[in-house]
Amino acid sequence: MNIFLNDRLVPEDEATVSVYDHGFLYGDGIYETMRSYRGVVFMIERHLDRLCRSALFIGLNIPEKSEIKRAVSLTLKQNNLSESYVRITVSRGKGAIGIDPDLCKAVTFVVITEPFRKYPDELYAEGARLILAKTRRNSTTAVDPRIKSLNFLNNILAKIEAKESDAHEAIMLNSEGFIAEGTVSNIFFVKNGILFTPSVKVGILDGITREIVISSARDHGMRVEEGEYRPDDLLKASEVFFTNTSAEIMPVSKVENVNFGIGEITSLLHTLYQDEVQKYIDEHSGYQP
Ligand code: PDD
Repeated sequence: MNIFLNDRLVPEDEATVSVYDHGFLYGDGIYETMRSYRGVVFMIERHLDRLCRSALFIGLNIPEKSEIKRAVSLTLKQNNLSESYVRITVSRGKGAIGIDPDLCKAVTFVVITEPFRKYPDELYAEGARLILAKTRRNSTTAVDPRIKSLNFLNNILAKIEAKESDAHEAIMLNSEGFIAEGTVSNIFFVKNGILFTPSVKVGILDGITREIVISSARDHGMRVEEGEYRPDDLLKASEVFFTNTSAEIMPVSKVENVNFGIGEITSLLHTLYQDEVQKYIDEHSGYQP
């Protein structure tokens, strides 16, 4: 694979950054992950808006959106990829040791593309197993979860807990004990035909998949509530699923020791989501960013 590094494409083996890069030293930087279908990056505008928001939160000057789009498009073409995973990383850049961002003169900008590896079909058919992590999600007044930060240790600690329990994903609560989100996903549950999901105020990344699911559910006449929920609310649900760019909508079969069936609403919402993807890709194919 070729990697876009700063200003040009380089072979993967040559795509290296300095050990003095503050992304490496301090996790000082941001990223986005996107997915392309038939060579078109789904919702690239929204991902770039979110990247810019993350940059603003941490005071990072990142390349112009048009430059980023050009880099993404070049990288996909060079690697001849159609169904792919796309990651943009921007770190504070190389600088002397010390946390002062002014030690870094220029950001490090990277675009990685890889063939898309789908979650196994069995997982969609059988549903994922989740745990409730002991690790709490960062507070909005510390590292706000709306920043898609390179400093991912908060989520990694919860992921380690999930792995120790042979679970696929971990649900993280905020410091007040309300359900926040998964380590790399947003959480939804269904009760009495109503769709519930933690509100952004709880301290979550406002996932792009989450937003699409909420609006297509509402367009379909479904009631959707965003609020503060305790684990008990979720454990009494009839359906649970999680969302992210890669998985789209993943049904959940188990949270801790409570089992859930793969429900009709989850399946319907996944179909609606895939319709949105098709519509977007059809509208944007042939379009060169
Ligand atoms: N993660 N919450 C967290 C903490 C995430 O890391 C992600 C995405 C989401 C879902 O966001 P979206 O629907 O925009 O993908 C929610 C991606 C998959 C990642 O980190 O690679």
